[in-house]
Amino acid sequence: MTEHVRLADRTLRVRLAAAEVAAAVRPGQFVMLRLPGTTDPLLGRPFALYDTVLDAGGTPVGIDVVYLVVGKMTGKLAEVAVGEALEVWGPLGKPFLDVGTPDHVRLVAGGIGQTPFLAYTRELLGTRGYGGDPPRKRTGKVSLYYGVRAASLAAGVDDFRTAGAEVHLASDDGSVGYRGFVTRLLQSHGPGGPLVGCGPEPMLKALTKLAAGWVVPCQVSLETPMACGFGACFSCVTKVRQPDGDWDYKRVCVDGPAFDAAKLVWE
Ligand SMILES: Cc1cc2nc3c(=O)[nH]c(=O)nc-3n(C[C@H](O)[C@H](O)[C@H](O)COP(=O)(O)OP(=O)(O)OC[C@H]3O[C@@H](n4cnc5c(N)ncnc54)[C@H](O)[C@@H]3O)c2cc1C
Ligand code: FES
Repeated sequence: MTEHVRLADRTLRVRLAAAEVAAAVRPGQFVMLRLPGTTDPLLGRPFALYDTVLDAGGTPVGIDVVYLVVGKMTGKLAEVAVGEALEVWGPLGKPFLDVGTPDHVRLVAGGIGQTPFLAYTRELLGTRGYGGDPPRKRTGKVSLYYGVRAASLAAGVDDFRTAGAEVHLASDDGSVGYRGFVTRLLQSHGPGGPLVGCGPEPMLKALTKLAAGWVVPCQVSLETPMACGFGACFSCVTKVRQPDGDWDYKRVCVDGPAFDAAKLVWE
């Protein structure tokens, strides 16, 4: 670990020297992080790529992960000091689905769901290449709609503005931006280009409904709890509609974490 900084209330950014992961990872993929030298917790935990870290020559040498302290692993992670080691394995999962080359892409985040969107903003705007590919511009404009409970939890807003995203904030208590659900804020702006969501399930359901009504493509990245992260344990399954209209279980860790929202079967 080469950096560990606070971005917001209970929210920290950890920088890891992990050149192999950094060279291969693409926006939408995730890594498993584990605290070495302890069996409590035994299992690693999944975290989205926040962004790659480049050296002066533009070579990827590390990754940033941003996390919210919610339980056992993240509580202990917050105590780890710069210079100490973490186990990191990845990249895992699939990158975001191809959105084509629309004029405008709207990213919709709730809670800690903004984390997969920083690298994605740079990829979409063509300012950074990932996975060994050169940068390629896919859209002229990226907007981030980001909903938090309160202003104190808004993490990394400046990072998104620096990356070129237009940021629209919403908060439950009105302490920053629009007062109310981020999906309501989005709705008030009317239909536009493709939507990409990440956050709590009720928010993703509302987003899916909005996208269906507007008839715009929508993909959502799921934060399903995971045990192994590479397809072996089936702890992360979600129901996905098949071409014949029936549904089947898909593993979020290998088939996702991003899915076409129209194909998900919400409980
Ligand atoms: C693909 C993917 C990417 C993720 N990216 C990030 C990220 O970038 N930053 C980040 O902070 N978190 C991210 N998460 C969620 C993160 O994995 C969990 O917050 C973490 O596992 C919690 O571990 P813990 O040991 O601290 O909590 P635990 O002690 O395991 O759990 C604490 C509490 O949180 C609940 N909980 C645990 N995991 C989840 C979850 N995924 N959804 C809802 N409730 C949960 C538990 O039920 C429990 O009530 C991601 C999850 C996935 C699947
Ligand atoms: S986490 Fe083990 S199969 Fe997905």
